[in-house]
This record gives sequence, C-alpha cells and structure tokens, in this order.
Amino acid sequence: MRLLTAAVTSLALTLGAQAISAAPVEIKFSHVVAENTPKGQMAIKFKELVDERLAGKVEVKVFPNSQLFGDNKVLEAMLLGDVQMAAPSLSKFQKYTKTLQIFDLPFLFKDMAAVEKFQNGPEGQKLLNALQKKGLVGLGYLHNGMKQLSSSNPLKVPGDASGKKFRIMTSDVLQAQFEAVDAVPLKKPFSEVFTLLQTKAIDGQENTWSNIYSKKFFEVQPYITESNHGVLDYLVVTSAEFWMGLDNDLKVEVKKALAEAIKHGNTIAAQKALADKQKIIDSRRSEVLTLSDAERAQWVEAMKPVWKKFEDQIGADLIKAAEASNN
Ligand code: LMR
Repeated sequence: MRLLTAAVTSLALTLGAQAISAAPVEIKFSHVVAENTPKGQMAIKFKELVDERLAGKVEVKVFPNSQLFGDNKVLEAMLLGDVQMAAPSLSKFQKYTKTLQIFDLPFLFKDMAAVEKFQNGPEGQKLLNALQKKGLVGLGYLHNGMKQLSSSNPLKVPGDASGKKFRIMTSDVLQAQFEAVDAVPLKKPFSEVFTLLQTKAIDGQENTWSNIYSKKFFEVQPYITESNHGVLDYLVVTSAEFWMGLDNDLKVEVKKALAEAIKHGNTIAAQKALADKQKIIDSRRSEVLTLSDAERAQWVEAMKPVWKKFEDQIGADLIKAAEASNN
C-alpha cells in the first residue's frame, strides 16, 4: 500500500511538473501610447505573430495607454521581472546610458531616411547594446517620426517660445533644447500631457503627428508648427535575465516575429505621419504653421549650442556619424 501511495505521489508530482513546464512563457508588453499608433500597431502585430507561431509556448499580453506602467517606471519594473517587453522613446533612457541622448539633439537628422540610415549603420547597431551593463537588451529600433511643436500661441521664430512652458520627456537634452530658446521645459509623463494642455497648466509640447492626433492634443492646442526639429523613435527592450532564460529556439522565433512586427510598425509610422497630419488639418481645431527657410534657420541657430553641451557625454565621433547619415 505504501509502495502504491509512493508511486501515485511520484506520478502526480511528475504530471504536476509537466503541467508547470508546459505553461506558456508570458511576455507582458507595456507601452504608453494609443493602439492606433505605430507602436500600438507594432505591439498588436507582434502578439498576433507569436499567437500564430508559438501558441501554447509563448503568450504576449499587450498593455497600451500606460495601463500597466508609465515610461518612467517601466524599466525598473522590467528589471524586477514585472514586465518583459516595452518600447520607450529613445529619450527616456538617460538614467541607464548617455549615448542614446544622441537621438534628442535638435536638428541632427534632416528626415526619417537619415534616422533609418544611422540606426541601420554600424554605430546605430552598436547602440543597441548600450544598456547591456544595466541588465537590459535592446532588441531593435522602431520609428514613430519627426517631432512638431504645438502651442497655445503661434510659434514662428524662437522668440515666440520665450517664457512659455513646454512639456518634455525625461531628457536633459530636451530640457537644454527648450532652454536654448528661453522657454520653460517641464518633464512630465505622457499620460498627463492632455490634461496639462487642457487646463493650460502648460503652453505647449513637442510630439509626432500620430501622438498629437491619437491623444487629441490638437483639440486643445490652437497652433502646431511643422518644425521637424527632432526625432521620436523607440527602442524595443527586454531584460537580460528574461532574455537569457528563454530557450534558444523560442528566442529565434520571438526575434523573428518582433523584426516583422517592427517592419509593420515602421510602415504604419510613415503612413500616419502624413495621414494624421492631414486629419488634424481637416479638423480645423488647430492651425498647422509652416516655417520659411529663414525662420527655420533661426531655430537651428538658437538650438545648435545644445550639441556642444552634450558632446562629451554622447561622443563627438558618434555625432559626426549621425550627421553623415544626412548625406
Ligand atoms: C512621449 O512621452 O511623448 C512619447 O514618448 C510617447 C510615446 O511613447 O510615443
């Protein structure tokens, strides 16, 4: 009888262990934007591809709109194992590395083709490893697009921004950028921007067409200057601990699905930069202002000293390489 009990117990333990080992690996993907954005669509595509190809082995759960974590908390949560993937803007990593600050330098990239060229080149690819020492793995870049300036007053020349309060992402470079035009930058989470604008606690902000449209900033900002003064792109990250713990064959498949999802997201980014701008124009809630070459030159001139200020932290050679991607 005792033998039988022992056999039954052992069988139960084996089955139990199998059941545990058979549980799918969970990837919680946390982000702050709406679903109808490049990042929102990329995350959904990634989930769909993983569901299709790795059913029962890996399960992706997407949490949009800062539902799970804001960008200021998500990396800490990742290191604690509370979330496995995220794609914060490249502006939100300064606590972990200074080199990624390169992407915030004003007027560095003339367009998204230059950004793409730099990211795919040797320096950009090396930057994917910039977080290694901090226990994070960069899995790939994702585009959103060039940033525009929205405001409660028309912004045509730098002097128009003087004394105005602008929400910025958590980035010292962006802080210096607005200080260079005598504006007052305030580091605030993305989830608070609409209310800050609506209540007039701030005067303006900088963001991409798809973020300005999907979060309805254009409804509470009478002017948007098409400045294309900087880039807002993302780094898809995971923790080294999670990534190393994943079976090799799963890792290969997950990486493949992610690469396809990023490609999809990049296509959406290019489309939305045009379509969402047009929707904003058509809404007539906000006037879209363009800059003459002379006006634009004034912004470039006023903000250029920011490069020098961060050259030591970022590296002069890296800045040169990024500049060369404009050619
Ligand atoms: C922001 O905070 O403005 C952006 O980083 C939001 C996003 O993820 O696009």
